[in-house]
Amino acid sequence: MTEKESIFLKALNKEVLPVPPIWYMRQAGRYMPEYRAVRKKFKNFLDMCKNPEVCCELALQPINAFELDSAILFSDILTIPDAMGLDVKFLEGEGPVFGNPVKTAKDVINIEPFDSEKLSYVYKAVENIRRSLPRNIPLIGFCGSPWTLAAYSIEGRSSKDFLFTRNFLKENNVEAHIFLDSLTKACFEYLKKQVEAGADVIQIFDSWANLLNEDEYKIYSLEYISVLIGLLKNDIVTKNIPIILFSREPKAQLKTIMTSQADCLSLYWSMNDIDLNEVRNKVSIQGNLNPEILLESNDVIRKETTKILTKYKDYPGYIFNLGHGITPNINPDKVKFLTDFIRGS
Ligand code: CP3
Repeated sequence: MTEKESIFLKALNKEVLPVPPIWYMRQAGRYMPEYRAVRKKFKNFLDMCKNPEVCCELALQPINAFELDSAILFSDILTIPDAMGLDVKFLEGEGPVFGNPVKTAKDVINIEPFDSEKLSYVYKAVENIRRSLPRNIPLIGFCGSPWTLAAYSIEGRSSKDFLFTRNFLKENNVEAHIFLDSLTKACFEYLKKQVEAGADVIQIFDSWANLLNEDEYKIYSLEYISVLIGLLKNDIVTKNIPIILFSREPKAQLKTIMTSQADCLSLYWSMNDIDLNEVRNKVSIQGNLNPEILLESNDVIRKETTKILTKYKDYPGYIFNLGHGITPNINPDKVKFLTDFIRGS
């Protein structure tokens, strides 16, 4: 695919555009009745992710409903720990729960080495989605950041403060780094396979960046993301694939995060106080409407969106998105309203 055809790729190439490309994190999901109709046929969420035909149908649902400028692979970030034998299940109302979490230093040493072939169902989904999409609509492949995957794998479930994980870092520091290192290599192999299968862009989700203070963030998160991006930028298959980095409320400045060499930074909704001159012409920016604004009236949506559009009007490489994923309580009509409003129709 070339930039001539896609405004999303143009923005990732740092072009100023009259109307920004639009896509939404978690654009396929429970807020859509079409999604819920498919979802109820599966007891376990991961079983649904293991069906490439269904993943293709789900990835296309928001493209068909809102004519977005990019699709994203339908899958989950926890496929990697699941493939490493950690037995990931999604329980109703609880989120992910690990049958076999990494609780001790010994668990790290005994963990199954990552075999990228175990995730062939994901690459098949990528192939199906790419084949079904119009030529001018890129497909985003993705993974969780090594830190975010480690946090879930050690905690064994979602948590507000990830206290067990934070203690694990202190008490088993050497093994924590061994684990982060093996997750980094797994992410690289996984993303390379997604690109070989047809992904045009990569997004790395550092959804638990917010748990770490600035020094910890550099040591446990940014360092491994930088290694991962370095591997991707030095590989013949992946070197020209634009990389977007989403970091949830990191306690570091953008100029620090930029050292990762990501091509585009996806901003959390609270990250409004940034100096664009520090990043201009160096990285594209994606974001960052607070998803909760989509629960408000059309007037409020218009007002808050206008603030963002005005701020990034002349920014070279701006992509409209939310500052985090769409939540299940959002009405799809609001997503349609927002999308049409940005396009001025
Ligand atoms: O359009 C899309 O973005 C769909 C593909 C996608 C999913 N998860 C599907 C999903 C993507 C890109 C993800 C990424 C993901 N998964 C992240 C990073 C983004 C973020 O929100 O920070 C994270 C942290 C996860 C882990 C995860 N997956 C959790 C915590 C949960 C349960 C809570 C929740 O938000 O629903 C999931 C389940 C999940 N992943 C669902 C979907 C559509 C809902 C599952 C269901 O229908 O039962």
